[in-house]
Amino acid sequence: MFITFEGPEGSGKTSQITLLANTLRQKGYKVFTTREPGGTLIGDQVRSILLSRMENKNMNPRAEILLFCAARAQLVDEVIRPHLAQGEVVLCDRYADSSLAYQGYGHGLDIDFLSRLLDFATGGLKPDLTLLMDIDPEVGLRRRMNSGGEWNRLDAYELAFHKRVRLGYLKMADENSDRWKVIDAGQPPEVVQTSLINVVLSQLKNFTRK
Ligand code: TYD
Repeated sequence: MFITFEGPEGSGKTSQITLLANTLRQKGYKVFTTREPGGTLIGDQVRSILLSRMENKNMNPRAEILLFCAARAQLVDEVIRPHLAQGEVVLCDRYADSSLAYQGYGHGLDIDFLSRLLDFATGGLKPDLTLLMDIDPEVGLRRRMNSGGEWNRLDAYELAFHKRVRLGYLKMADENSDRWKVIDAGQPPEVVQTSLINVVLSQLKNFTRK
């Protein structure tokens, strides 16, 4: 089963994924975790071009989307598909929906065109379940600043951009509620983790029955 995690900055996705992966492993599932952009040798090189705040300040949105797609195409073929083929649960920290949210709703690139481009990049591979870790971007960005974590080129976009990203995510979740589940990531971390585990376990049960 292919599960993706989406959300604005500072939603706590990364640490929640680590906890969830451990719980699923304890329950006997074979779990593989990866992240975007990156996750392969080629993808990690593209990641450093995309996120470098100093060198690549004037990257335009079209260059940005093509680089995200290049890293993603590599990740799908080299990593995600082979692990799914082994029957593993693949947890991916961001995927194609990040491009729709950031480059589409955030930067205003055409959503229909982007969807076709993303289909090309992924070879049509869609997640079975997408968890939206929803948080007000003001709260998320403050969290990220206070945690002293990495502050990348995209974090530095203005607040209005991040607000458009969040609304875009909520719209996608609303339009496709079969695949998307929304988690309130503003709650205490242990509450968020419990909600995540409950949603994922119930979906995994249904999934194996198919
Ligand atoms: P990262 O440090 O991995 O952020 P996070 O912990 O929030 O996931 O940086 C990834 C950044 O790239 C993040 O700002 C979201 C952005 N992004 C896009 O704009 N489009 C995409 O397709 C992807 C995968 C990420």
